[in-house]
Amino acid sequence: MIWVLGARGLLGSELLPALDRAGLKVFGTGREVDIGDPRALADFSRGKAFSWIVNCAAYTAVDKAESDSAACFRVNAEGPANLGRLAESLGAACLHISSDYVFDGRAREAYREEDEPNPLSVYGKSKAEGERALRKACPRHVILRTAWLYGSKGQDFVSSVLEVLRSGAEAKAVADQVGSPTWSRDLALAIAAIVSGPSGLQGTWHYAGSGAASRYEFAWAIRDEASRLGLLSGSCHVLPAGSAAMGRPAPRPAFSALSTEKIGRIPGIRLRPWREGLAEFLALKRVNA
Ligand SMILES: NC(=O)c1ccc[n+]([C@@H]2O[C@H](COP(=O)([O-])OP(=O)(O)OC[C@H]3O[C@@H](n4cnc5c(N)ncnc54)[C@H](OP(=O)(O)O)[C@@H]3O)[C@@H](O)[C@H]2O)c1
Repeated sequence: MIWVLGARGLLGSELLPALDRAGLKVFGTGREVDIGDPRALADFSRGKAFSWIVNCAAYTAVDKAESDSAACFRVNAEGPANLGRLAESLGAACLHISSDYVFDGRAREAYREEDEPNPLSVYGKSKAEGERALRKACPRHVILRTAWLYGSKGQDFVSSVLEVLRSGAEAKAVADQVGSPTWSRDLALAIAAIVSGPSGLQGTWHYAGSGAASRYEFAWAIRDEASRLGLLSGSCHVLPAGSAAMGRPAPRPAFSALSTEKIGRIPGIRLRPWREGLAEFLALKRVNA
């Protein structure tokens, strides 16, 4: 039996059906089981035999976190510690999602699992602390770092760009941040493969769309694919911007592409170029429109 926390978020809402399709028995919980509250976690788990606890819950408001540090750390750092201790006491393994924002962005090639985190923002620091806390609390852990998630739930980069372009306005996207766009469904399938199979995966891993793009290139790819599929009409444009001009409170790494070479060697884990995932996501969006 698998317990997914953060089940109604961008990733969690893709993960539940993916686990279901893999034939696994799943419990999904949202905010009603607060990961910052050890007693609430213990109460919910009582009498249930979990093999995996999968944490998709997080404080993800990256800019707000700069002025809301205590709340952010409570969820992103204390949360994984609480879950790790609980998993250990129940004899379960714990899979936790972390972020490319644990890195400072000074690398020249895609970050590998063994590269040293050096987060720039409160959010990034809280995610790095969550990783450390989980490693300490629960030896049977998997930390999956991912990046630039988009999907059918929530206000992500893809939906924001489409919304602006549909309104007839020009979209602006930063050209000085490079990362690995990742469809939440691809990540959900990778998680399902890990928890359902005999992969024996442990430790820290990276999973993201293969390759890298700036936010500006990503926005153009959204525009081009959506136009090709008839989701956008007329001519619409994306303009490049600089991070400084966007005036965002939280600093972001200039380069946070993730190397997926290591996880790509695990049987049953599918990786694909980020643009291929985007094309399939938008094609599905057209079918469901
Ligand atoms: N989105 C990205 O681009 C991105 C990139 C890299 C890594 N990640 C990581 O990927 C994971 C999934 O992110 P996501 O994009 O799916 O985030 P999301 O859409 O914001 O979902 C997070 C979920 O956590 C829930 N939550 C917040 N505080 C909670 C608490 N105290 N107790 C229980 N649940 C709580 C939220 O509930 P409500 O719905 O009620 O708010 C939300 O449903 C996170 O670990 C995130 O750090 C995300």
